[in-house]
Amino acid sequence: MSSLSKQPYKGCRDFFPTQKREQDYLFNHMRQTAMLYAYEPYDGPMLELVDLYKAKSGEELINDQIYSFTDRGDRFVAIRPEMTPTVARMVAQIHKETPKPIRWYSIPNLMRYEKPQKGRLREHWQFNCDIFGAPEVLGEIEILNVAKDLLNGFGANNKHFEILVNDRDIVSAVFGALKISEEQSYKLFKVIDKAKKVSKEALDKMIKEAISSSPEILNDYLGLKSFDELLTFVKKNKFEDQTKRIQNFLEKTKNTDLANYLVYDPTIVRGLDYYTGIVFEIFDKHPDNRRALCGGGAYANLLQIFNEQPLPGVGFGLGDVTLTDFLKTHGLMPDFSKTHATLFVTYTEEKDIEEALRLSQVLRKNNVSTETSLQPLKFNKALKIAQKKGHQYMLVLGEKDNQVSLKELESKRQVDIAINQFEEEVKKLFN
Ligand code: HAM
Repeated sequence: MSSLSKQPYKGCRDFFPTQKREQDYLFNHMRQTAMLYAYEPYDGPMLELVDLYKAKSGEELINDQIYSFTDRGDRFVAIRPEMTPTVARMVAQIHKETPKPIRWYSIPNLMRYEKPQKGRLREHWQFNCDIFGAPEVLGEIEILNVAKDLLNGFGANNKHFEILVNDRDIVSAVFGALKISEEQSYKLFKVIDKAKKVSKEALDKMIKEAISSSPEILNDYLGLKSFDELLTFVKKNKFEDQTKRIQNFLEKTKNTDLANYLVYDPTIVRGLDYYTGIVFEIFDKHPDNRRALCGGGAYANLLQIFNEQPLPGVGFGLGDVTLTDFLKTHGLMPDFSKTHATLFVTYTEEKDIEEALRLSQVLRKNNVSTETSLQPLKFNKALKIAQKKGHQYMLVLGEKDNQVSLKELESKRQVDIAINQFEEEVKKLFN
């Protein structure tokens, strides 16, 4: 029998302590930010019926990316590739008796059958924040602020990232003016979604393939470069609802910090089908890492798949893989290669083990994260272990009678502590 591979399944990661500490750091920031904005935690199952995603997530997810199988009870199920259909399903159960807006967050792991590459894996964790039942534009602005503040909390600012914004309803209005069929609209959305990844010629060709022409209004639209140009465009074409929404959005974000991050981009339409209004993607500005670390937008009709009254939702998903790349690219990820434990308790002779265990308990009682050697160690060996793991202190027993020695490893300073004063000294030194 050939030996088994030690590597994880393709596109998935093993989290060794360093990576797990990094991930905990990200998750702690996510929870803190969500809670600052009064978002409440929720979670859902790992498996859902494939039908849940078929309803509105879009062909790419269903045809190419979903991990699906038929269970023993003949149900066709999928490992969750995204969280939005689950949150919509859950909100559909409770929205009638819940005060609005409903603000929820979660950090699920998701699986998508993608070609693993930088920023894209098969398993990732995704910070999701969604708000349901908020007045139009205010929900969008709050959600954008949550995402922005999260990144600000890591030390990132508008030198590091930008928020590309569009309104899918404007794209729909342009398509309406083109008088194209629903099928052609669907194809054209996909073409626009890919617009930035291809040359101008290739884009023209794709447009012609989708709708057999290259109309002026579409070219004008794709040429828009700023919110001002967008406003002129929607006014000129008499898209009245869309004009109002964009004006309202600009009015309410003007003179806020958020405005320093917002950039209009006509090619942002999002790959998922449920979005209906303002959509956005947060992009890394670093030339080595030009990719989206977060995507989201407004979806007005998702609850209708459960035969519920419409309840507008807005939200985003922000992935741990892209966030880690972003922070590392900009030197914003702290070093997590060392143990979180502070202190290593060690001794050279068997007779000291009980005292070492007792003093370790005293340290822990005083909130000092302590690792105790479970066997006698020569001093140099103990020092090497403590340094390699990254402890800040070493407590050595048995060097002098009735005393222990506390050594600070980096500065090489040391203090001797009388054993009968140990707890008082620990309190003074570590509190
Ligand atoms: P999405 O754009 O598919 O949106 O994913 C959001 C973010 O998740 C991406 O910007 C990226 O950072 C990360 N991501 C997605 N796929 C992968 C992958 N294969 N590997 C690594 N990272 C990935 C959604 O999923 C929407 N459900 C978000 C949402 C929530 N919209 C409203 N509420």
